Amino acid sequence: MCGILGYVGPRQAAPLILDGLRRLEYRGYDSAGIAVVADSVEDRVIDVRKAKGKIERLAGILDREPLAGTVGIGHTRWATHGVPSDANAHPHTDASGRFVVVHNGIIENFHELKRSLLADGHVFTSETDTEVLAHLVAEEYDGNLVEAVRRAVRHAAGAYALVVMSAAEPERIVAVRKVSPLVVGLGDGETFLASDIPAVLQHTRDFLVIEDGELVVIDAAGATVELIGGGVVHRPVLHVDWDAEQAEKGGFEHFMLKEIYEQPAVVTETVSGRLEASGEVWLEGVGFDDAFAASIEHLWITACGTAYHAGLVGREIFSRLLRIPTSVEFAHEMRYADPLVTAPSLTVAISQSGETADTLAAARLARSRGSRLLALTNVVGSTLSREADDILYTRAGPEISVASTKAYSAMLVAQYLLALRIGRVRGVVDADLSERIGRGLHALPGQVEAVLGDEESVAKAAIQIADAQDVYFIGRGLDYAVAMEGSLKLKEISYLHSEAMPAGELKHGTLALVTKGTPVIVVLTQGAVYDKTMSAVQEVKARGATVLAVGYEDDSSIGSFADDVLRIPRTDDLLSPVTAIVPLQLLAYHVARLRGHDIDQPRNLAKSVTVE
Ligand code: AGP
Repeated sequence: MCGILGYVGPRQAAPLILDGLRRLEYRGYDSAGIAVVADSVEDRVIDVRKAKGKIERLAGILDREPLAGTVGIGHTRWATHGVPSDANAHPHTDASGRFVVVHNGIIENFHELKRSLLADGHVFTSETDTEVLAHLVAEEYDGNLVEAVRRAVRHAAGAYALVVMSAAEPERIVAVRKVSPLVVGLGDGETFLASDIPAVLQHTRDFLVIEDGELVVIDAAGATVELIGGGVVHRPVLHVDWDAEQAEKGGFEHFMLKEIYEQPAVVTETVSGRLEASGEVWLEGVGFDDAFAASIEHLWITACGTAYHAGLVGREIFSRLLRIPTSVEFAHEMRYADPLVTAPSLTVAISQSGETADTLAAARLARSRGSRLLALTNVVGSTLSREADDILYTRAGPEISVASTKAYSAMLVAQYLLALRIGRVRGVVDADLSERIGRGLHALPGQVEAVLGDEESVAKAAIQIADAQDVYFIGRGLDYAVAMEGSLKLKEISYLHSEAMPAGELKHGTLALVTKGTPVIVVLTQGAVYDKTMSAVQEVKARGATVLAVGYEDDSSIGSFADDVLRIPRTDDLLSPVTAIVPLQLLAYHVARLRGHDIDQPRNLAKSVTVE
């Protein structure tokens, strides 16, 4: 998840792009760069300034070495391929420096492309997947930049918003979109390209939203939209009335809601380039060899809060698919518990921020006892990632709301991939199973999208819960893991007391608290224990509870037992946590909204708990 900006017009491009990049910094901030077509010489050249670190570092460089020119592109990066560094920062050029690109997304087949370009004598200066695109455009150029871009992207598989500029055609910029977002801002005698509307909202309120599979050419006079494959597109102008605060949140009322809605894209990005159609998995930062994967005798998962709940799902995934004993431990408990960690084992420390003090301590302890340490984190270069033997990055992009949502989904997806990687080596996940799960993972973004499409039903259900004193969440197996996370979401932003428990545990105590009207939320996706969970539903119904269920859209029994049902598309039961959590995130959001709380910054909580 990176930020992109482009400008053609009468103004100096660099300061304007720098300002836009600051507004896009939420999309990534490990390095940034700007390229402009220098306007001072006859044979025009492209000048680039780029730097590792926050945008302010780039600003300092531009103060010392300004860029003069009125056509330019810029980028703020969230590393996926290649560590944050000056060399890996965008823009990237071909060897001649006459073609320059910025890119958001992942080129899945960049290894093959790079291999063949290297064989043809191309010299690369970065470790990024993006650089191949600059070389491909140069290779395809025969006097028409638009056609060169069209031909270049035909070679590329994956997701991209790609913006290309050339010294050979300095008055225009060409961009293409596949999956990753891209908009055009239409000004008076000037035109902008950006990853999202807020980046240029101070310059214009008129936009063209570029759709998947489209190509756009901008110059100072405006923009032409076409299909990548050819054919003109007539896109109506979108006039945006957002105020500055709404703009920062992409038009959503809160960052939490925006991040909930980013989940289809986050799932796509986390899988992208890592999972072949055949079910083969390639995890770039996971360096252990097959011999180690085959030797693992115990898996440890350690984390806190939402990351711990992702670990609960992980335990089910690893135990079921790999048949390796898997323990999931609260990091704050594990660090003082003298755990029985020995080699050969793998400890998966899960942390969105990679900076949670307890998680770091538990991870260090496990490593000191001979376990190999894998960091499952969202933040490139975080402390956890620096200390681990292996790194599996989620690609959720910066998460701003204290209540974690998209990072959780990405953690789940990453664990499925890890299980497939280890399972293939150990011979417990065969090609068919791997392919089946792979297919399921690829279908998830669309399924999450479908759940988001029914937000209205969730908003209605929230009205029934908003005035409750206590809410109970139940489920079994993976549904229990999801119930735990649903309950945490509700309590942290709505300040409503809630508890989650395995459905079978109710009758051992908590049932005493269930009386007429007590809301009980049941997650019901696991076929193997469906009837058993249903018995618990009957138990609470018999005490007068109001039951809200989360279940598959084709489940015809559930409606006769529950008072209300939030439907999710049918998936493989193993994958259902990724979709089942979405209505519960939305439910927490709507309850908190009805209760009038500060949703993005709930009382007493911090985004990253870096103290013990
Ligand atoms: C959940 O919404 C919280 N923000 C919190 O539980 C969080 O997941 C926990 O503090 C762990 O943070 P981490 O993933 O950055 O380690």
